[in-house]
Amino acid sequence: MRRPAEPPEGETFKNKIHIRSYACEDKGGLIWTYMGPADKKPPFPEFERCNMPSSQRYVTKFIMECNYLQAMEGDYDPSHGRFLHSTLDGNRNASRQNFQVNQVNTQFNPRTFDSMDNRRVKMLPPDRLENSDSGILFITAQETTDGKVSANVAPWMMPIFTTAGITSSANTFSSNMRVPVDNLNILFYRLRWSYQPIPEDELWEYKHGGYTHPEMIPGTWQGLYNVHNDYGVDRVAQKYFTFTGIKTFPLQDIR
Ligand SMILES: [Fe+2]
Repeated sequence: MRRPAEPPEGETFKNKIHIRSYACEDKGGLIWTYMGPADKKPPFPEFERCNMPSSQRYVTKFIMECNYLQAMEGDYDPSHGRFLHSTLDGNRNASRQNFQVNQVNTQFNPRTFDSMDNRRVKMLPPDRLENSDSGILFITAQETTDGKVSANVAPWMMPIFTTAGITSSANTFSSNMRVPVDNLNILFYRLRWSYQPIPEDELWEYKHGGYTHPEMIPGTWQGLYNVHNDYGVDRVAQKYFTFTGIKTFPLQDIR
């Protein structure tokens, strides 16, 4: 039925409306698309994890109310892990001791969780930045209190890919993607992958949250502990047990 104000030929506004469509690729548990100009389309980021069977990878995501660049730079601060993620007893009684913080760890990398009992380290100049085919390599060296020297190489694969991040097992590798939503929000994708099937107990942590991954508000991409409730900081725990009083490792960084 024609409405009173419609022209005789019928409603034509709908003919002016078009929905853009984008080619998608289903890889590594994610749907990828490129939304920019066709002549500037980059090659698909062929990360090894993208072609692994689903039993060897897991992806989580949550909303982070933070600017993209501020969120990225935290992955390239080599000194914070020793105190920010530590317990007051030097992690001796932490329930899990064997976290892999960066897949490019060297043997004496101070960023491994179980070596954080010495908070003070001597940074050895100079920190170096090297260009690579995919972005920038951040190279830092530290002298630990036992006299050893550790070197850490942290790649920033432009614009959104890093390898920092904690896992529940030494056999599982970490990658992150931080996708800007606007100036004040990002979607934080945490990708975990392994050369062997990821055990059920490890997956449970990734699915339900706890220490390595944040617990989520059911049915949302919002963490249960977030900027609006001060990330669930527990001042008693902070006074007697942990440096931050925040249970979940990545939320310690965010707060
Ligand atoms: Fe951190």
